Amino acid sequence: MLKISDLDEWRTYANQLRSSGATVALVPTMGALHEGHVALVRAAKDRGDVVMLSVFVNPLQFDDSGDLERYPRTPEHDLAVALASGVDCLVEPSLGAMWPRYPAPTSTTVSVGPLGALFEGAQRPGHFDAVATVVTKLFALTGPSRAYFGEKDYQQLAVVRQVVRDLALDVEVVGCAVVRDDDGLALSSRNRRLSGEGRSRALALSRALTRARDATGPASTRRALLRETLEESDVEVGYVDVVDPVTLLPCDDGASGVARALVAGVVEGVRLLDNAPLTVGGR
Ligand code: PAF
Repeated sequence: MLKISDLDEWRTYANQLRSSGATVALVPTMGALHEGHVALVRAAKDRGDVVMLSVFVNPLQFDDSGDLERYPRTPEHDLAVALASGVDCLVEPSLGAMWPRYPAPTSTTVSVGPLGALFEGAQRPGHFDAVATVVTKLFALTGPSRAYFGEKDYQQLAVVRQVVRDLALDVEVVGCAVVRDDDGLALSSRNRRLSGEGRSRALALSRALTRARDATGPASTRRALLRETLEESDVEVGYVDVVDPVTLLPCDDGASGVARALVAGVVEGVRLLDNAPLTVGGR
């Protein structure tokens, strides 16, 4: 496995791969790799892509300095996981290379408009602009490619798809299903900060999604079930909603068809997200 940190080398390597006829896959991560990331690598390898996995904890997308400090950094573990999962090239750019003006923001940023102000964006102002900016830079360095993202961060995936569409970037965005532990908890680098008791409470997120999916009735009924299930387990509710899977706008009670249930909550100071498809109306 090749390791790159230099931005020019990154670009050159990806160009060479394409010249030799390969399809380049980018798996962008912030490290603390887990089975969710491994699933993205596997999905890329199953399609025969050459996989570049980037690890860069982007400080600009953290609105809370405490959260940034607590974000797990596990370089040795990441190296071992990347090797074991068949990553072809591990890219670890430095903060100075990515954001030379840090802690000042870059002069040029990507702004994603209303989609970035919903849900996570309402609670973390500027978060999605910062994600869009770093992802655009990762795409620019990699060049024409397929980029693999987990559906766990569903709004992030929608934002990235919008950026690619709006800016006509030569990147095929591939969304991969949420990966869960056996008990149903969606895998996240933040889960390692939960105690045993916190983890049991956190299971309310996936339980809420299952209840909402298995229920019948309009979006408002499903929303109420989501909220009730989180509250029963003392999860501090960030938001719950049932939304259009593409625009992420809330479904009204007349809506019928495939929708997406979104939940966010805080347990022991750890912010947790989950989501799942469901069918509303007409069941
Ligand atoms: O999902 C993440 O790990 C990050 O938000 C991403 C996409 C790597 C951008 O920093």
